[in-house]
Amino acid sequence: MRVIFFLLASIIWNQQVPCTLAKDSTPDDYLAMADESLGRGLNEKAIGLYEKGISALGENESLLTVMSLETNMASALSAVGRNEESIKSYRKAILAYKAKIDEIDDPETVSHANDIASTASFYMGMVYQDMSEPQKAVDAYGYTYVLDPKHWASLANLASVLHDQMKLHDDALDAYNKAYEILTQTEYEPTDPPEEANPILSQIQYRIGLCLSHNLDRKCALSDDPDMKPVSCKEMATHAFSLAVQFDDRNESAKHMLATITADATMKRASNEYVKNLFDEYAQNFEHSLVEELGYTGYEKLRRGFDRALGDKIEPFSLVVDAGCGTGLVGEQFRNVSSYLIGVDLSQAILDEAEKMRPGLYDERIAADVMDVFRQRKPISLIVAADSYIYFGDLQPLFEAMVEGLADNGVAAFTLENVDAESEETLTETKPDWRWQLTASGRFAHRKDYVESIATDVGLEVMYNEVMDGFRHEHGKSVRGNMFIVKKVMNEAEL
Ligand SMILES: C[S@@+](CC[C@H](N)C(=O)[O-])C[C@H]1O[C@@H](n2cnc3c(N)ncnc32)[C@H](O)[C@@H]1O
Repeated sequence: MRVIFFLLASIIWNQQVPCTLAKDSTPDDYLAMADESLGRGLNEKAIGLYEKGISALGENESLLTVMSLETNMASALSAVGRNEESIKSYRKAILAYKAKIDEIDDPETVSHANDIASTASFYMGMVYQDMSEPQKAVDAYGYTYVLDPKHWASLANLASVLHDQMKLHDDALDAYNKAYEILTQTEYEPTDPPEEANPILSQIQYRIGLCLSHNLDRKCALSDDPDMKPVSCKEMATHAFSLAVQFDDRNESAKHMLATITADATMKRASNEYVKNLFDEYAQNFEHSLVEELGYTGYEKLRRGFDRALGDKIEPFSLVVDAGCGTGLVGEQFRNVSSYLIGVDLSQAILDEAEKMRPGLYDERIAADVMDVFRQRKPISLIVAADSYIYFGDLQPLFEAMVEGLADNGVAAFTLENVDAESEETLTETKPDWRWQLTASGRFAHRKDYVESIATDVGLEVMYNEVMDGFRHEHGKSVRGNMFIVKKVMNEAEL
């Protein structure tokens, strides 16, 4: 996941633009012309002009001119994807600052140079983040904060790198809290405050909640005061998620996590916005994280179970839908039994990733809700869904859509998650008729009997099922699951 809170490439230092460049044009003339081109999106032209300005620099050139030329050139370079060169230019601006700042007496120039250095360092952090260099991004954002302690965006970006890429949840929490404080406490005047603060504050609180819910069994300290009693992290995370919803009631991710943490039994499925945002952010890292870090094998297990259920002479299915296809791990397993294979996912970013990683695997890729596609593309001969129905709690509407979409005798093969053994025991004792459970992970776990009974109710015959424990790991523990192969039962009247 990569979140960048603050994205822009603004012009740092701008002077009167000369109409034309003369032979004796000064570095400031080049700077002004280049800034104007950069402002109009003419990046290559701007780069050429910055280069000329840099070559025209004299020995005793003003520090502000040197820093502005390098910083703005770096922004233009990153805008055209020349990230390595961009980093070099940002560095030159910062080195010039460090070399000269102590020699300057004029407070206004010092303040201006400070602003440029902190901005250069901030942008450099974003370029490093883009280059997946988390430690260097952290150093750059950290330096911005040293130069400008009111730079909320550098703290927010720093926190997102610490949280998403480095898994340093406590450090991330600290940085998010500082960013939040700068934006909300009246004694601060934040640098570059957001035009609309509420969506940003909502994002920050949501992410504070995520950092806190990383280990809900812990106690969290409310402040640095040793006399202050620690409270449960769960309580604090609940507060953070509910603040996030108060700041922005369109924040579906926060709403989902609030329902998760309060075990809201009325929640019937994850909203499409939540799932889409989650996988859009996760797309680039998705397969590595799922397969390498979480030991995910659900896609292979589903195919093996399918073969066991249908025997070894499987005729190709004319129209196959891979429902919640992700990057195509499942599609790859079922390609040899699919005459025409459609990959469906809510996340366009993950569909793009699927095409990048497995070009041409799908005959068609559709960004939509699986239930809509089942209805639109009927009659479907086979539906495969590994690890994607876990975002539905109540399975009835989903199964009804499958029945509507499947051809007569059409087959669906899917996996679902189960609660851990301890929770299963407790649920069986306290709530023997439990059907599904929204778990701390934000996904739904289903009771096997419930899945079978709802399938039968809507007209699906359970042909096969298999326990699939250990198909993925979570916080070092193996996740339990079940696989089901069902067939659309033909109406007696139709037989
Ligand atoms: C954990 S991933 C599994 C991906 C893939 N099936 C695999 O096994 O590698 C779950 C995927 O299901 C998608 N998804 C969840 N609910 C969906 C829905 N209602 N419609 C379409 N896609 C959905 C998500 O966007 C995500 O890409």
